[in-house]
Amino acid sequence: MIVTTAQLYQVAYRKFAVGAYNINNLEQSMGLFRGCIQSQAPFIIQLSKGARNYTDKRMLEAIIRTAETIFPEAIFAVHLDHGNEATCYDCVDSGFYSSVMIDASHESFEENIAITRRVVDRAHAKGISVEAELGMLGGVEEDIKVDEGHACLTNPDEAVEFVQRSGCDSLAAAIGTSHGAYKFKGQQSLRFDVIEAISEKVPGMPIVMHGSSSVPIEEVQRINAAGGKLDPSARGVAENEYIPAAKLGVTKVNIDTDGRLVWTRVHREFFRDKPAEFDFRPPGKNFMQAYADFIAHKNEKLGSAGQLETVRATL
Ligand code: G3H
Ligand code: 13P
Ligand code: ZN
Repeated sequence: MIVTTAQLYQVAYRKFAVGAYNINNLEQSMGLFRGCIQSQAPFIIQLSKGARNYTDKRMLEAIIRTAETIFPEAIFAVHLDHGNEATCYDCVDSGFYSSVMIDASHESFEENIAITRRVVDRAHAKGISVEAELGMLGGVEEDIKVDEGHACLTNPDEAVEFVQRSGCDSLAAAIGTSHGAYKFKGQQSLRFDVIEAISEKVPGMPIVMHGSSSVPIEEVQRINAAGGKLDPSARGVAENEYIPAAKLGVTKVNIDTDGRLVWTRVHREFFRDKPAEFDFRPPGKNFMQAYADFIAHKNEKLGSAGQLETVRATL
């Protein structure tokens, strides 16, 4: 059943985090639904502009609608990840999305507020929630690359004004993470001081953590042992920090890179071990199972595992 992100946040806020998983294709979708049923977790499917353009945005919509009928017990929201203004309007008008993210964080503070406000007005008129970003994460997202020198943490005082004037429903905040596989050099930790200050200044506002993959060392090592060339110093968010962050208001946790690592590991190992194979279905099946297990594991770490019936009771 497709619900709104607001319905999920209402149950999760300050108790657990809802996993927001990027999907691009059929195999990821099957693995995602299986993993969430396996772990009895509500979840958010998020589609980036790149995902919508990978084949055709209608293809992903059809996959998700079909998955909804194959897994009638699933409870999830559908969200646009890192949208610009035009893509947000396209999703709002489509009637398919529960919420959209307008990412104008690279603009000036005033311009970010103005753009977000326009999207909020259009989205709210149709009952759709808006996630907006203040502060800038490092790393690559869509076609924008922010180098470390330009990344900046969210200023909690600015967050108060931003939320009031933009009217956004959830706040993507820069709290020490970055997109991709290379997040931390040396000390590996979220900025709990910033999370706490934002929650105190904007109580009740769900905080969204982007760049939340944990980039497991074992996964990187297995990929490299099967012919990959990832930098072995790749580090992500420590999984035992998800729940402490959730208790402080981090309600949506975005994960994409870790799923890509699962795909890469499964396929590299499969073709390394079976070099004469050329049927893509055997590794595809392995991937769907591995991705389902990965999702179920993440949901345990986020605290969303086992929350499906609690959410259902509130609908
Ligand atoms: O933050 C961006 C997400 O990981 C989506 O990545 O734009 O390559 O689909 P993508
Ligand atoms: P990761 O690159 O850490 O998976 O972050 C994904 C993300 O923030 C999607 O919006
Ligand atoms: Zn992101």
